Amino acid sequence: MTFAKTMNLKNISERIQELLHLRLTMRTLITNIKKLVQVETQAERKDKVFGHDMDTLPCIEKAFLIIEDGVIVDFGSMDLGTRQKALGDSADVLAASYDETIDATGKYVMPTYVDSHTHLVHAASREDEFVMRIKGMSYAEVAAAGGGILNSAKKMASISEDELFDLSVPKLEEAIKNGTGAIEIKSGYGLNTEAELKMLRVIRRLKELKRIPIKASFLAAHAYPLEYKENHQGYLDLIINEMLPRVADEGLADYIDAFCEQGFFSVEETEQVLEAGIKHGLIPKIHANQLHNSGGIQVGVKHNAISVDHLESLGEKEIKCLQNSNTLPVLLPGAAFFLAMNYQPARALIDANLPVVIASDYNPGSCPSSNMSFMMSLACTQLKMTPNEAINSVTINGAASLGMQKELGSICLGKKASLIITKAIPSLEYIPYHYAHDCVERVIV
Ligand code: NIG
Ligand code: FE
Repeated sequence: MTFAKTMNLKNISERIQELLHLRLTMRTLITNIKKLVQVETQAERKDKVFGHDMDTLPCIEKAFLIIEDGVIVDFGSMDLGTRQKALGDSADVLAASYDETIDATGKYVMPTYVDSHTHLVHAASREDEFVMRIKGMSYAEVAAAGGGILNSAKKMASISEDELFDLSVPKLEEAIKNGTGAIEIKSGYGLNTEAELKMLRVIRRLKELKRIPIKASFLAAHAYPLEYKENHQGYLDLIINEMLPRVADEGLADYIDAFCEQGFFSVEETEQVLEAGIKHGLIPKIHANQLHNSGGIQVGVKHNAISVDHLESLGEKEIKCLQNSNTLPVLLPGAAFFLAMNYQPARALIDANLPVVIASDYNPGSCPSSNMSFMMSLACTQLKMTPNEAINSVTINGAASLGMQKELGSICLGKKASLIITKAIPSLEYIPYHYAHDCVERVIV
């Protein structure tokens, strides 16, 4: 065979490889995007956004984006030379190269929300308590009267794993439909070994659906079951010596959580749970300072928690403590809204140059909504965050609070194409402004 012929064959074989690659690869092109939001070039790639930088949101106007097998492989301005490169020369080439083309004229494309704090798996709603609170009882009083978490635990005891899974799937689908592209889900309504494992196994089954990335938190230290009301150490021993080894054995959890709060788990009790969790390879991520300035922030930071969540009650000391740590402050304005409590001091945290995160806390008692667009509205109207700050808090900072900032949270080459395409809306600010309306048209996960 002559050299020229060999070359020819080589070219043909390369071309066949190329065509095969095109055929086997799922390629999606989004064009005419009004604004591509939260873009990042490799060079300026960041893990999270701090303090006043949160008011900056890098965007590209009139943009395109290309997805290959679920990964962002190209994006840029439609007006530059990149357009030619990315879109090809003719409609024919376009049709041949992409499995789907989406015309996003008038629409925004942004990373999906990362909801880093939920109790999505629960057996029943609790609107009876909602009415009790309307009539004057506080959340703590309802809990002390056997309602609250114990009420959910009663319902958890009588439901099968399959039933619980069947109830949870539509809840997950609803969150996705509203723009959530990654989520954390806690146990904590079981409060005994079998029921805690049941919840965690349901979370694992949700993970296995592979709809969106899910992280699981083990939260047996959510409330003391009635039979351990006077025997706290007995319940702590049960968590540490019986539940945790089984959770770890089955690889059911990523995080160890505790409700560090007066009337729930003291600082010392929280500490026991966190230390045991760490020994089993779990990362602390705790409920802190919701109802009182409980010392939860300090104990979380001391144990290098990835985040401390809630933070309705805090002062200068707690802010200093967070500044000297890698622990992220996760604010849950939906719970403060629903319980009509003080909102979290987001401005003070931002002024202190902290990377604020907003999450939903979706649960049947203190926030029966997983709608992250609404959480952004609360962040803006009640926590006085700007829309840019709110978007940073639910995208890149949310991803960081689940250790997922390398794969999610921004429009970046190589990251997952986990995207919200909005309806045609007048501005980005319109999303939190037009509260309780649905600005999300399509979610690609
Ligand atoms: O994060 N604060 C503790 N746990 C949940 C509420 C649990 C419930 O009331 O069911 C929360 O708000
Ligand atoms: Fe919570």
